[in-house]
Amino acid sequence: MKRPLAYIAGTGRGLPATVMTNFDFAKIGIETTDEWITDRTGIKQRYIAKTESATDLAAAASRRAMEKAGITAGELDVIVLGTASPDRLLPSAAVDLQAALGAGRAAAFDIGAACAGFIYGVTVAEALMCTGNAETALVVGVEKLSAITDWTDRSTCVLFGDGAGAAVLKRSKQHRGILSTFIRSDGSLGDLLCRPGGGAREPFSQNVLDTRSQYIKMNGREVFKNAVRSMSEASARALDAAKLTGTDIDLMIPHQANIRIIESTAKYANIPMDKVFVDVDKYGNTSAASIPIALDEAIEQGRAGEGSLVLLVGFGAGFTWGSMVVRL
Ligand code: COA
Repeated sequence: MKRPLAYIAGTGRGLPATVMTNFDFAKIGIETTDEWITDRTGIKQRYIAKTESATDLAAAASRRAMEKAGITAGELDVIVLGTASPDRLLPSAAVDLQAALGAGRAAAFDIGAACAGFIYGVTVAEALMCTGNAETALVVGVEKLSAITDWTDRSTCVLFGDGAGAAVLKRSKQHRGILSTFIRSDGSLGDLLCRPGGGAREPFSQNVLDTRSQYIKMNGREVFKNAVRSMSEASARALDAAKLTGTDIDLMIPHQANIRIIESTAKYANIPMDKVFVDVDKYGNTSAASIPIALDEAIEQGRAGEGSLVLLVGFGAGFTWGSMVVRL
């Protein structure tokens, strides 16, 4: 097992004030039921940002993570931010967050790896620390998916939620830290989960608005199959690299998209469900934010703490997927 170079020194989450339950879809004319959503996904409610921006959520999560890590914004060398729903398309969400935090000496940039954004972000931040480019890093996953969700499409609008999660990485001095990372992608499957309109290929136009192509489009069944396959592969690869097996893991924290995907992934990784953290019922799928939100909650609830061996695993549009083993 490698000697860790970076460890997670603090985590935080930021959530909007408004909760939307499965029963609230009736109020906006969506034909669905609490039973359908719960059976297929495990989701009971999600947070929706009515007044908060993505930057507000990211800043709230980051401030909590920095407080727990005992650092100030001025000490950050790098901010790596995963998102698919930035407040604006240019400049990056990471520099907007940098300005909100007053992290004056950091380099800040976004990672476009959808729901795997936090795993990718930690991997990149750790690499920057390994090469001597950073001593202290902030990795953030933030989404305001409600802004890019088609609220007339019942097959997607029931799935997503808004929120942010953050982690401060510091250089390891002891055994604590990131023991292994694994990331992969397959762009040939990009059309299965995408936002086709409003980008450079088809800039905003009346046609984009008429076809609602600025919103998330998804082939749910194909995404489901690939998610299980890829998250299982990623878990195995990260465990192998750390010379561990599922039975060594104290807590698995998978991307929270769907309880059935989580259960299948845990089964393949040989980790019983009582060692798997689940909060998809409370937040829905918050994409890049889901893993750091879950990690923060798991620590707060005492499900994981200093010394725990944790397996993080994610999957998202791209497709992108990845996993890591961390000694907290
Ligand atoms: N409420 C009620 N019925 C709904 C519905 C809703 N919110 N959404 C879809 N349906 C209907 C469909 O119209 C379809 O009806 P039909 O058979 O009369 O045409 C039926 O339910 C089955 O639809 P289908 O899409 O085949 O359901 P499914 O079992 O595949 O479940 C998902 C749909 C989206 C829950 C499931 O595919 C899934 O979870 N996929 C992964 C999505 C995901 O996690 N994406 C993010 C990954 S990062």
